[in-house]
Amino acid sequence: MARSTSTSGRSTDAPRDAIALLKEDHRTVSQLFDEFEKAEEEEQAAIAQRVCQLLTVHAQIEEELLYPQAKEAFDGEEESEDLVNEAEVEHASAKELIAKIEGMSSGDEHFKATVKVLGEYIKHHVKEEESEMFPQLKKTELDLKELGSRLADRKFALMEQMGIEEQEPAQPRKRSAGKTSRGGSRSKSGNRRSGSRARH
Ligand SMILES: [Fe+2]
Ligand SMILES: [Fe+2]
Repeated sequence: MARSTSTSGRSTDAPRDAIALLKEDHRTVSQLFDEFEKAEEEEQAAIAQRVCQLLTVHAQIEEELLYPQAKEAFDGEEESEDLVNEAEVEHASAKELIAKIEGMSSGDEHFKATVKVLGEYIKHHVKEEESEMFPQLKKTELDLKELGSRLADRKFALMEQMGIEEQEPAQPRKRSAGKTSRGGSRSKSGNRRSGSRARH
């Protein structure tokens, strides 16, 4: 898709490098899995749906952008390339679980178990990315800032396409102290894209 020449006006707080962006996604998803565990049954379907959508977007941007670039940057280093191959295989399995969950009703007797297994699976996958692949990637010449901005662009395009809201940070970061309650204050945060889309 045509990439705009500027990423300003994006909903991200500031350009982040690829690893920071992906790690933030990992945190968001892991919090959602925790929430799922604690939630009342009637809330679980919505949480599961959101987690599946966010993971779908996350997996897609990694597969389209991160993994191919990582392979290139690893340039024949077999062990590091294998990390990427393994990650790709893990994505395929995670996507099967996601499809299962999306096709299930929350009343299905395996619904909770399947979400839980997905959560465990993702936890393992995230650990490998963060403790093995990302540190290796930092040693390469890959421009992580530039990749970060492409990941962010693609992420928001996909989210828009899927009609998903941006993730809400679980805790307010640097902005306005106070107001920690989550209820309905998101639209004030300036962390939305309102209007920015219309002006290309
Ligand atoms: Fe991944
Ligand atoms: Fe990831």
